[in-house]
Amino acid sequence: KIRGCIFDLDGVVVDTAKYHYAAWKKLADELGFYLSIEENEKLKGVSRMESLDIILKIGGIENCSQERKRLLAEKKNMYYLEMLSDMGPSEILPGIVELIKSLKMKGCRIALGSASKSAGMILKRLGIEELFDEIVDGNDIKHAKPHPEVFQTAAKKLGISYEKCMVVEDAKAGVEAAHACGMCCIGVGSSEALSAADFHVESTAELSNIFTVLV
Ligand code: BG6
Ligand code: MG
Repeated sequence: KIRGCIFDLDGVVVDTAKYHYAAWKKLADELGFYLSIEENEKLKGVSRMESLDIILKIGGIENCSQERKRLLAEKKNMYYLEMLSDMGPSEILPGIVELIKSLKMKGCRIALGSASKSAGMILKRLGIEELFDEIVDGNDIKHAKPHPEVFQTAAKKLGISYEKCMVVEDAKAGVEAAHACGMCCIGVGSSEALSAADFHVESTAELSNIFTVLV
């Protein structure tokens, strides 16, 4: 039986994955190349600086100094935060609040496991931070997904062994991170990138169907 559930943030709890993509795309446009939605899959779950390295590679931009990289990453984050500026509770993905409440009623402990440094701010803005027993975000970890550190840290904080934790993810790197520490993973979204997940749903609204047999 599952005793702990660790939710990714962007693209699982809130519909912010589209803003990460839009902000990277705007940066790529300025650098003079097109960032496709397929290529964007590689950026999901990956840290800001690692995402930038992937972007620069896609655009064939070499010999970028550390200082320029820092400025470019800062610029992307500025675009991202601007896009979030009128984000409201309607950005919370379907069924998530109800699902977390019902899992807690059944005694399941809940954590957030995100690579984003803005995760805490986003939960606060939406008024849903209280739903989570523990929050681990990009400020708490050294290695982003596919490294399992974020999920390992979350499980330790919850006090639950890895094999009794379920991860919910929309990113290939997130599924890999869960598997790297022996956790099961539900992939959310229509993407082929999720083929390695143990379970798969198209939309967060369908997650509760899977949990009824697991918790
Ligand atoms: C992940 C997103 O949750 O956080 C990535 O899937 C993003 O797209 C990463 O790059 C880091 O986010 P931030 O807000 O710290 O730049
Ligand atoms: Mg995500």
